[in-house]
Amino acid sequence: MKLSFLSLVALATSIHAAPGDGDWAAAYAKAKAALPKLSTANKVGMVTGKGWQKGPCVGNVAAVAAIGFPDLCLQDGPLGVRYAQQVTAFPAGITTGSTWDTSLFYAFGNALGAEAKALGVHVQLGPVAGPLGKIPTGGRNWEGFSNDPYLSGVAMANSISGMQAAGVQACAKHLLGNEQERLRDTQSANIDDRTNHELYLWPFAEAVRANVSSVMCSYNKLNTTWACESKALLTDLLKDELDFQGYVVSDWNAQHTTVGSALAGMDMSMPGDNFGDNKFLWGTALTNALSSNQIPMSRVDDMVTRILAAWYLVGQDTNYPKVTGWTSWNGGKGGPNVQGDHKTLARKMARDGIVLLKNTDGALPLKKPASLAVIGSDSIVNPQGPNACVDRGCNTGTLAMGWGSGTADFPYLIAPLDAIKAQAAKDGTTVTSSPNDTPSSGASAASAAATALVFINSDAGEGYITVEGNAGDRINLDPWHNGNALVAAVAAANKKTIVVIHSVGPLLLESILSSPNVIAIVWAGLPGQESGNALVDILYGSTSPSGKLPYTIAKQASDYGTSVINGDDSYPEGLFIDYRRFDKNGIAPRYEFGFGLSYTTFAYSGLTISPLSTAPGSTTPAPGGPKGLYDVLATVTATITNNGTVAGAEVAQLYIGLPGSAPASPPKQLRGFSKVFLEVGAKATVSFPLRRKDLSFWDTGKKMWVLPSGSFSVMVGASSRDLRLTGTLA
Ligand SMILES: *[C@@H]1O[C@H](CO)[C@@H](O)[C@H](O)[C@H]1NC(C)=O
Ligand SMILES: *[C@@H]1O[C@H](CO)[C@@H](O)[C@H](O)[C@H]1NC(C)=O
Ligand SMILES: *[C@@H]1O[C@H](CO)[C@@H](O)[C@H](O)[C@H]1NC(C)=O
Repeated sequence: MKLSFLSLVALATSIHAAPGDGDWAAAYAKAKAALPKLSTANKVGMVTGKGWQKGPCVGNVAAVAAIGFPDLCLQDGPLGVRYAQQVTAFPAGITTGSTWDTSLFYAFGNALGAEAKALGVHVQLGPVAGPLGKIPTGGRNWEGFSNDPYLSGVAMANSISGMQAAGVQACAKHLLGNEQERLRDTQSANIDDRTNHELYLWPFAEAVRANVSSVMCSYNKLNTTWACESKALLTDLLKDELDFQGYVVSDWNAQHTTVGSALAGMDMSMPGDNFGDNKFLWGTALTNALSSNQIPMSRVDDMVTRILAAWYLVGQDTNYPKVTGWTSWNGGKGGPNVQGDHKTLARKMARDGIVLLKNTDGALPLKKPASLAVIGSDSIVNPQGPNACVDRGCNTGTLAMGWGSGTADFPYLIAPLDAIKAQAAKDGTTVTSSPNDTPSSGASAASAAATALVFINSDAGEGYITVEGNAGDRINLDPWHNGNALVAAVAAANKKTIVVIHSVGPLLLESILSSPNVIAIVWAGLPGQESGNALVDILYGSTSPSGKLPYTIAKQASDYGTSVINGDDSYPEGLFIDYRRFDKNGIAPRYEFGFGLSYTTFAYSGLTISPLSTAPGSTTPAPGGPKGLYDVLATVTATITNNGTVAGAEVAQLYIGLPGSAPASPPKQLRGFSKVFLEVGAKATVSFPLRRKDLSFWDTGKKMWVLPSGSFSVMVGASSRDLRLTGTLA
């Protein structure tokens, strides 16, 4: 299962020996037929970006007329097409993740892919599984789905399948260890083999298994070698062990050498030069390295074959739209409207990603209150417009995405206040607005109203922009703009205070919870363009909340055991991030991983656990790893009943504890989930297939996944700490 490479020639020729059945095989056959028609200049051109801003997209590769290969367009980003004006600004990854809805993951990818394709984008740069999010203040965590590798992996696989079914190439990024923004260009992530397999590499394995076309290597170093120069990462792990068939593209300017990157397994250099300095590490330098035999032609042939195969795989060789002049950064003027009816999907994702954290005595949903005070700058759109700050690099007005390259322009942004006013007009509710963060103004608006809704937020982003002192990573886990003081003032003035939070990740809520007048907390994440509409769906109960936390909310920052560091990171916490650490160390979270309230209640019953199959698995290489790793060895089922008073959806979660024969492992790990919508009184059986990998640990000595002997604990419930049914699998 793990091939070893004795020489570069062996490396270049053996990788494609068994490209698997079906689509990749057909794509490789076409790529191999096209390869002989290419000159060395063509090949070097195909693997080298044209240079920063030397084309309509953030990444551009030269066309090869002889084989009908177009000017390839690579464009950001994970939540929408960047630098276009009439595209959908979907919720960010972290809010998509908090829906825990596999069909929404796919629908989202498919809609994003359709928009990208309509604009002529060949490679849409997402989704994100790195950072995974081990550091709660990490600047780019919100671009990904969850810091749990299983949830992230399911979201990666399904969104990639959706994107590629729409015809666009997905790009799983950033491989690997870019867990913080501070020092991201120099820090080494020194990750031990087991931790890497069980946490950070896991969602990338799922992406590869979903046939992702491309993977982006990250800025940082791994084990002291640049990620884009690491043979251990790109060739041994990604291409060999995971049998990745597509190509590795560098993050923008993450390449450092001509020969080292090529021999390590990088396949495409982006943007080509160093952000416009016209100095190319490949291009002519690659041609020279070929002439001097520092790099064998077989390696460049491999790069080109991979790029071509990925292009054929998703069918971009026939009738693919051309990039018209829409990219605003390149003087384009907006381009066609490609949104279709995706706003419906964007609203559903934002709504189903909302997590209800607290709801005392049925405070929510609102029932035609006589009067409402709506308080906080986070309740309105930035008066300068939702796109006023470049790459969303400010926190003014309601927060609906973080900042940096992972953003898109809003076609519009529905403010919470406007959506609430529309509902209030129907209900005859008087609305008082205090759209600022001044505690005294908030208190005076609140004192006159039946109910006070107070909006606070917390932002983060990519390190090239600093916002209010936050250089990408967050300074702390407190709400911005003195949100705790605003909530305290409002709650002192109104006994029915409801707090709505837009946030990139966890916040410390102890100050807010210390006021008994805070009767509800609504965790609205980063909802994208449909923010206000999605919120009103939940506040007024047209939909029961069904989001669950994709990370833990702690009582104090130190409980996480990880923080942004100033030098290299040796990952001393190992496997024990987020709930794995809280469980191991007996730390009580404020709101645990997987938690979320509903307006109805669900009963769990009828746990069944099938016998465990112990048949050995096939070691044949397949995308994602040896085939047998994905054999289903056991199935767990349970019955979920809506025994409450309104319809709603529940996310049933399966956690597994490995037997004692496995070396020190987390007490429990998410290994299945299923979201079911149930009318009042209805029930459904949820089924959790357990694959060999789900029940195994990475054996560092054997360098393989090992199924431990003994009995596994099986836990099914509504969160990682609300485990309703337990049993064992032996
Ligand atoms: C990084 O180094 C650690 C410690 O030696 C090792 O366990 C791990 O396998 C290395 N990772 C890679 C990708 O080489
Ligand atoms: C990946 O592609 C193979 C063919 O190469 C196909 O059999 C498999 O179903 C695909 N996997 C997914 C998840 O689409
Ligand atoms: C619903 O089921 C749960 C779990 O069995 C139970 O605690 C709760 O009392 C039930 N609710 C109603 C309204 O029957």
